[in-house]
Amino acid sequence: MRLRSVALDDAYGLARIHAGGFDHPWSESEMAEVLMQPGMFGLAVEGDGPAGFVLCRAMAGEAEVLTLAVDPAARRSGIGLALMTAAVEGARALGAESLFLEVAVDNAAAIALYQGLGFSRAGVRRGYYRRRASGAVDALVMRLSLNS
Ligand SMILES: CC(C)(COP(=O)(O)OP(=O)(O)OC[C@H]1O[C@@H](n2cnc3c(N)ncnc32)[C@H](O)[C@@H]1OP(=O)(O)O)[C@@H](O)C(=O)NCCC(=O)NCCS
Repeated sequence: MRLRSVALDDAYGLARIHAGGFDHPWSESEMAEVLMQPGMFGLAVEGDGPAGFVLCRAMAGEAEVLTLAVDPAARRSGIGLALMTAAVEGARALGAESLFLEVAVDNAAAIALYQGLGFSRAGVRRGYYRRRASGAVDALVMRLSLNS
């Protein structure tokens, strides 16, 4: 598995993977805007092009995961875990004391991944996600302390 940093010219490839993971995917130009945000860092795993990626932002001692997605054909082979492990290391290296993320309460796969890495529940955002089929869904806010 080859992990690398993402760059602005990945916007198309990352948007394609994002579209396979979310009901409201980011377009190539929205992805490019995210990639240009201050404090942004991201990692991708390569197959024939990116097979998965994570984008994070670190600022003022805190970091957050903005998005994480793995190509459906490449799931359950450890890519999500490798990306999140690298995101944790990256946030720590940038001086963050905590890494936060939001995850839909019904996203059992992602919640299991995050709990396995030591993230714990920090709060709930009511109706945070809009689903095409089921309407609004709450988000769990999860946090990992990076101090230890
Ligand atoms: C969540 C996601 C990134 C996981 O990626 P992945 O590469 O398949 O995950 P991994 O193979 O590294 O799995 C790591 C752990 O996550 C959990 N997990 C992953 N997929 C799972 C599933 N379908 N059901 C239950 N647990 C799952 C397991 O704990 C797994 O460990 P194990 O294999 O030892 O059981 C992927 O399913 C995805 O892209 N989903 C759509 C987008 C998304 O939900 N992103 C997160 C938004 S917050």
